Amino acid sequence: MPFNGQVLLYRMENIPPVLLASMVFMIFNGGGDFYMKIAIGSDHAAFPLKNNLVSHLRKKGYEEILDVGTDTDSLPCDYPDIALKVGELVAQRKADRGVLLCGTGVGMSIAANKMPGVYAAHCHDVETARMSRRHNNSNVLTMGARILSPETAVEILDAWLSTEFEGDRHSRRLSKIADFEQKICPSCCLSDKGKTVIFDHPLVQHKVSIIRDKNTSVKEFRELVQEIAGLMVYEITRNLPLVKIQVETPLALTDAYALEGKKLAIVPVLRAGLGMVDGILQLVPNAKVGHIGLYRDPETLMPVEYYCKLPGDISERDILILDPMLATGGSASAAISLVKARGGKKVSLVCIIAAPEGVSKVHGDHPDVDIFAAALDSHLNDHGYIVPGLGDAGDRLFGTK
Ligand code: RB5
Repeated sequence: MPFNGQVLLYRMENIPPVLLASMVFMIFNGGGDFYMKIAIGSDHAAFPLKNNLVSHLRKKGYEEILDVGTDTDSLPCDYPDIALKVGELVAQRKADRGVLLCGTGVGMSIAANKMPGVYAAHCHDVETARMSRRHNNSNVLTMGARILSPETAVEILDAWLSTEFEGDRHSRRLSKIADFEQKICPSCCLSDKGKTVIFDHPLVQHKVSIIRDKNTSVKEFRELVQEIAGLMVYEITRNLPLVKIQVETPLALTDAYALEGKKLAIVPVLRAGLGMVDGILQLVPNAKVGHIGLYRDPETLMPVEYYCKLPGDISERDILILDPMLATGGSASAAISLVKARGGKKVSLVCIIAAPEGVSKVHGDHPDVDIFAAALDSHLNDHGYIVPGLGDAGDRLFGTK
């Protein structure tokens, strides 16, 4: 049964009786994945329709319905507030599908589709709803309570929930949309698989060109590496969760926001990774800093740990491993393994220049890890240097050549 992008295989004898009963119910009830988590919301204009659909879904056996409101039709509310709540739940995979209802359904679809990862289909009929699943893999359905009868809305919803995506050529088309989303907002896009994000921001590109230049001085190189690392982390941290707090200004008490919980750990791989630390700490001064030292065994050519000191609460932090050059990927992959072995869960790799060979190695060994780079270069030469690259980042940072 396809579920949330994964294929789960069940052995019959392991299925609890309640689940088995629901599966039988499902077979006789026209199909549908009743373990799907559905987020639903409406504005005031569609409040009665929302209630109808929620009770219909409950009767059908859908167990997890997240109703984000509105809770009354006697007070007008603004559809974008609701659309963005449902959109966020779907984009963040906290819900498998979303249903949004307003007077026409149009406002909901416009607003929800602003959210990268949301593919909202505005439907007036069963066929469009089915096709939006088969061809477009829509994950949000929007409908208009002032346009459709409650019966038609139920039929559309049932058809939409029970139709599978056909994949194949449609996946190719959808990945063009996903690529564009990734390009306009790399850190907005969630995925179970690690992504490779190349920062094409003009400031980053400009600074990378200067550090590539063999005539750039050690002082300037060092400063620019810090600046590039800071700019990259500014973007990487865009989705850090916030909590509401209260702050007393000289004039009044007000709501404000602060970063939630344990935040970042940065872990430079010695020695070149050190060159990125201060640029990041300028933005996130409370980040904890770990260190990893690796050398390459001359016989086996495998990376060997000679130093590893990480924050004690590493398992609770978002971890950014820093290594300016992702060449063969051997030491980056080993550094990630070390951090994971010591409890690290959410690990990303931040480098300045990556080679395709390194990206493949890291994603082969660690498919869950995001790789952030300022440039993806052409290839490695026979000595394992990135071409065109910038030479040995450690030597250029510390003037040791
Ligand atoms: C509310 O009157 C109405 O504008 C809203 O429900 C919706 O139709 C917007 O698209």
